Amino acid sequence: MGVSGRLENKVALITGAGSGIGRATAQRFAREGARLMLADLSEEGLATTKAGISASAEVLTRIVDVSREDQVESLVEATVQYYGRIDILCNNAGIACSRNIATEQDAAEWMKVLNVNLMGAVYATKYAARHMQAQGGGAIVNTASVAGIRSGAGGNAYSASKAGVINFTQTSACDLGEFNIRVNAVCPGLVETGMTKPVFDYARELNKEYKLGARCELRRYGKPEEIAAAILFLASDDASYVTGQALPVDGGNTASLNMPGMKV
Ligand SMILES: NC(=O)c1ccc[n+]([C@@H]2O[C@H](COP(=O)([O-])OP(=O)(O)OC[C@H]3O[C@@H](n4cnc5c(N)ncnc54)[C@H](O)[C@@H]3O)[C@@H](O)[C@H]2O)c1
Repeated sequence: MGVSGRLENKVALITGAGSGIGRATAQRFAREGARLMLADLSEEGLATTKAGISASAEVLTRIVDVSREDQVESLVEATVQYYGRIDILCNNAGIACSRNIATEQDAAEWMKVLNVNLMGAVYATKYAARHMQAQGGGAIVNTASVAGIRSGAGGNAYSASKAGVINFTQTSACDLGEFNIRVNAVCPGLVETGMTKPVFDYARELNKEYKLGARCELRRYGKPEEIAAAILFLASDDASYVTGQALPVDGGNTASLNMPGMKV
């Protein structure tokens, strides 16, 4: 696919860009003309993402743990030092957790998940929005999840972290609106990525892949590129009057009561 230029010359920082949704977003943003800073824990993942981007695109990569405030601060500073500005921040890095029931929660796991999924977005917003404020505006897109809207799509800590991301999207949109900084979230449903690989592997092993996503209204699971397209919309000037919103990109999953036995 060629360049269409919806992000021509915009500087975009994407976390969790070494796999799945972050990789698809980075590759789509590059095709739209963005200049990129890609961050992840995985050097190999970042290299694979970069290899899928045209050599003519401007792409920096950096190993960062988003749960470490000092590392996030220097990531933002490095972005601004190189490109001179930051127009788009995608807080996308995330981890899943075990599906223990409410009576069997592990505090250490909760803190780990909250630190990556929620605090990672909080830190990056804190530092990036200061630059956006000084330069007259910007767009932040957080990757939340349908798990932050309803139960059943992840472990308790994961769901709470994503509900936190949705709420932080709203509160930071209110704080930053007067500075022309828009803050929105996407809430993906089930998408095949590194995070969900065990689910897909297990289903394929049992010849039950057809069941994955079957209870969505569209009767299928999603592709990373379909989430990237929604992130692109929210990050682009096409969404210039949209802020504080959490957009489900879930094949209609959250639109339905989804009663057992009603589908398939
Ligand atoms: N796959 C799904 O079905 C689904 C559904 C809803 C929401 N999400 C969300 O989408 C986002 C992207 O996940 P994905 O599905 O592409 O999974 P993924 O595992 O393929 O990608 C996540 C990336 O984040 C990176 N990462 C993890 N911890 C990090 C940290 N501390 N610092 C920096 N990078 C870190 C990983 O190395 C990985 O490259 C996550 O926030 C996830 O919660 C995914």
